[in-house]
Amino acid sequence: MKKPILVVSTGAGISAESGIKTFRDADGLWENYPVMQVASADGFRRDPELVHQFYNARRRDLIKALPNDAHRALVELEKDYDVYIITQNVDDLHERAGSSHVLHLHGELMKIRSVTNPDYIETLDIDHLETTPATRGKNGDPMRPHIVFFQEPVPNIEKAVELVHKADVFVVIGTSLVVYPAAGLIQCVRAGVPIYYIDPNPADTSAITGVHVIRAKATEGMRTLATLLTAPK
Ligand code: OAD
Repeated sequence: MKKPILVVSTGAGISAESGIKTFRDADGLWENYPVMQVASADGFRRDPELVHQFYNARRRDLIKALPNDAHRALVELEKDYDVYIITQNVDDLHERAGSSHVLHLHGELMKIRSVTNPDYIETLDIDHLETTPATRGKNGDPMRPHIVFFQEPVPNIEKAVELVHKADVFVVIGTSLVVYPAAGLIQCVRAGVPIYYIDPNPADTSAITGVHVIRAKATEGMRTLATLLTAPK
């Protein structure tokens, strides 16, 4: 029998309990770093070294982190649903947890790509992160983080919208819903499709019909949601 389609949109909050800082919470990354200098196209043109340093620090945090129970609960739901994850996160914790379908909207931290040839992408060797400053590719090209900087288009947004149109259930986890176009995905859900939003400090979604807010951290919220989604009908 065909399984129902569960589309999940995740943000920094799902990785918070893995020890990865969010962006806009108190003591979040954007409180401690000048966002337009380290994460924008102009910033990279002005000072690529600073941008590489910023993302190398993020990589060092990521390799120490492990997927948490919320990432794992999404894998578990694959028994009952066709689960498609659309993530704003650049970490690889969904993949490491074992999720089968993960679409990254804002790029991938462990990858770098050529500044002159966007099709040339390398995956960083985590064992040599300290000695590989990620500024030159193996082919000698100047490299940049494989990250969607502010001021750049989001290449995977159309694929994401297509997935959201197919959803039988839509779930949002741990995002402040302020960065577009990702924040607009919730508006693309078909009428009548249930929407669940897990976040301890959720954005105001009262203008969108059908949103069930689960005000909780990702791991606890996912336990509640898994019970709801797998209860016998
Ligand atoms: P934000 O930092 O804007 O929002 C994090 C959300 O996670 C907030 O709503 C928090 O309440 C929630 N949160 C905190 N701890 C949580 C927990 N334990 N469980 C669940 N939720 C928790 O992060 P994003 O919305 O993901 O883009 O940010 C979107 C984009 O802005 C990022 O992808 C990044 C950033 O600039 C780029 O760098 C391109």
